[in-house]
Amino acid sequence: MVTGPRRVSRRQVLVGAVGAVAFGAAVSGWTWAVGGSARLVAPDGTAAASVEAARRRAGGRTIPATLTPRPVSLDLGGPTVSTWGYTDSPDGQVIRARAGDLLRVEVDNRLPVDTSVHWHGVALRNDMDGVPGLTQAPIPAGARHTYAFTVPDPGTYFFHPHTGLQLDRALHGVLIVDDPAEPGRYDAEWIVVLDDWVDGTGRTPDEVLTGLRSMGAMGDMAMAGGGTGMERYVSPLLGGTGDVAYPWYLVNGRVPTAPVTFTGRPRQRVRLRLVNAAADTAFRVALGGHRLTLTHTDGWSVTPTDADALLLGMGERADVTVTLADGVFPLVASAEGKSGQAVAVVRTGAGDAPPADARPGELDQAVLVTGAQPVPDAVRLPDRAVDRTHDLVLDGAMMPYRWTINGADYAHSAPLTVRQGERVRLRLINRSAMFHPMHVHGHTFAVVGSGTRKDTVIVPARQTVTVDLDADNPGQWMTHCHNPYHAETGMMVNLAYLA
Ligand code: C2O
Ligand code: CU
Repeated sequence: MVTGPRRVSRRQVLVGAVGAVAFGAAVSGWTWAVGGSARLVAPDGTAAASVEAARRRAGGRTIPATLTPRPVSLDLGGPTVSTWGYTDSPDGQVIRARAGDLLRVEVDNRLPVDTSVHWHGVALRNDMDGVPGLTQAPIPAGARHTYAFTVPDPGTYFFHPHTGLQLDRALHGVLIVDDPAEPGRYDAEWIVVLDDWVDGTGRTPDEVLTGLRSMGAMGDMAMAGGGTGMERYVSPLLGGTGDVAYPWYLVNGRVPTAPVTFTGRPRQRVRLRLVNAAADTAFRVALGGHRLTLTHTDGWSVTPTDADALLLGMGERADVTVTLADGVFPLVASAEGKSGQAVAVVRTGAGDAPPADARPGELDQAVLVTGAQPVPDAVRLPDRAVDRTHDLVLDGAMMPYRWTINGADYAHSAPLTVRQGERVRLRLINRSAMFHPMHVHGHTFAVVGSGTRKDTVIVPARQTVTVDLDADNPGQWMTHCHNPYHAETGMMVNLAYLA
């Protein structure tokens, strides 16, 4: 639940933290230690293996897939960019499985650099989580690596490298896990991937970070060659909304002047699977002339909730249903607090396509922020006492550009330790003027107050969001801001199971 600003004394911050102990991890041989005494479970140890064994369902299939990260040229619908992608189709790559299936994905790294693949939102075995230096060694240029894991829960997920800023190129794809028991109360399904785009337009994401490191947002504006350096991205819903000046915003890899068209028939019920794959942009999404019914957040059902528009942070997914009207309508994802938008067209009848700058009135009516929706009993986290609470104080600065959790960047952070079987509470205390979409690997938490199940939650500037999770997936789990510019400069910590 989003609450007002609160203060946390320095003493409280230290309670529950390990303190200033050294965290030694040797990737080969998986030796894990906190300080001299406490030991952490290994990503490929017996605790993780026995949980994985329990995930398979009778009749589960093996789903083979291949990912070939490589240099590609993408036509964004006018601008053509050289970048890195899993495919040269702007639609991106979609992998589809059923809950209980085993996914076996062969990665053939044709990039000139290391990579990795993280399966965002999936409660999978820890050694397949794709975090170099924590759960696996990096996949070197030219090498192959196989990920094989059971997908236990239905929902809309995505995948991307957990290596540097590779997510801010075209290296992301959608993973749909179908529910064998899905009532299927819709006639069609559209996958809608939202993105902010800079690579190949004169700067790589790595050069963007160099600009941020040298001069903060002013450095990015200066390198973008525009503006006075005085722009500030802010929104009444979030506070500060980002650091990077993007030339383009995309729906399914297309700029607004050459949008994708979704074609349907009047009165059809369509399920939209929305994925915010952007790096530094929250999107406010609306479909002109329609109301949206939110049915799932980050794959988990909510009590269906109607809204005119929906705000999605980076790394969040939402499933909404709409009943199509007759005509041609703009599906607009407005870059929250920035100028610019991503656009697609929904067509069920004759008529001209809406202009690239169409701004449906729904964007400024009832805007729903995910994380505050009630949930059906089946997805409610069972009531029980909290065994352990960790505070994560989120802070940072533009000059020098550096983002921290509990005052430390990842390299200097103490892991947040838990034990298997505990109910764990995380208090996400944002002291900064910027919003942070906070993501926990390998688990779904419940937002305290609403009960909404999620794996990525928006923490608005100077607010606190509290979440509970059951520590039922032993391993070492990255917990971080899903803005890769923030994560790369420090805003990550390890949620570490003690052995
Ligand atoms: Cu999609 Cu560690 O994140
Ligand atoms: Cu952040």
